[in-house]
Amino acid sequence: MFPFWKVAIEPVLRAANARRIVEIGALAGEHTELLLDTMGEDAELHVIDPVPQFDPDEHRERFGGRYVFHRDISHNVLPRLEPMDAALIDGDHNWYTVYHELRQLAEVSERAAVALPVMLLHDTYWPYGRRDLYYTPDRIPQEFRQPFQHKGMRPGRRKLVPRGGLNPQMANAEIEGGERNGVLTAVEDFIAEFVWPLRRLDLPIYFGLTILVEEAALAENLE
Ligand SMILES: C[S@@+](CC[C@H](N)C(=O)[O-])C[C@H]1O[C@@H](n2cnc3c(N)ncnc32)[C@H](O)[C@@H]1O
Repeated sequence: MFPFWKVAIEPVLRAANARRIVEIGALAGEHTELLLDTMGEDAELHVIDPVPQFDPDEHRERFGGRYVFHRDISHNVLPRLEPMDAALIDGDHNWYTVYHELRQLAEVSERAAVALPVMLLHDTYWPYGRRDLYYTPDRIPQEFRQPFQHKGMRPGRRKLVPRGGLNPQMANAEIEGGERNGVLTAVEDFIAEFVWPLRRLDLPIYFGLTILVEEAALAENLE
């Protein structure tokens, strides 16, 4: 998500006056560091990653606000959090995970009678917009898991390629497209079911960023 920081993420967080942010999927923590450096002392940042490649204690010490690191998967953590102002979603890139992350965030907001957090989702275009990736395939219930192989992908090819391609080391769904497959499909299914109108903005660069916000929250912000 790092390349989106200046052009999209920072301006959106500022416009939304986001004080409580959850980051799902932090990897090396590059993006987390930008958040730590930007958010003020009145901010609260929750970072969720089962296998971080950085030291959360170091981040906690550096951050002036409230920092909570969750060494766990998103589905175990999101229902326990207070409502968030913004959610950066860049963890496991498959339909089951993302659809339920969105649902869980919505359920928490609904219970508190507040607007949905502004959602910023990475990997909504090729290769994972319409194709599942599984960091840990066994975590996904079988009925929601596409057949997958550790083989690479090429643009315009629905099937995985026998040699080379992108991300051949990852567990990628064998076929691109169809129901319950990919991050953008999860976003669309969530929007179709959500009770209130949502504004969706897609940035089709660097594997895709999609921003979702409630229309009512946007209108209020403009007043
Ligand atoms: C693509 S990387 C995140 C990159 C990071 N957002 C950045 O901009 O640098 C995906 C991360 O998600 C984590 N992850 C995988 N499954 C997850 C899950 N179910 N919940 C939360 N994080 C998960 C992985 O451990 C990995 O560190």
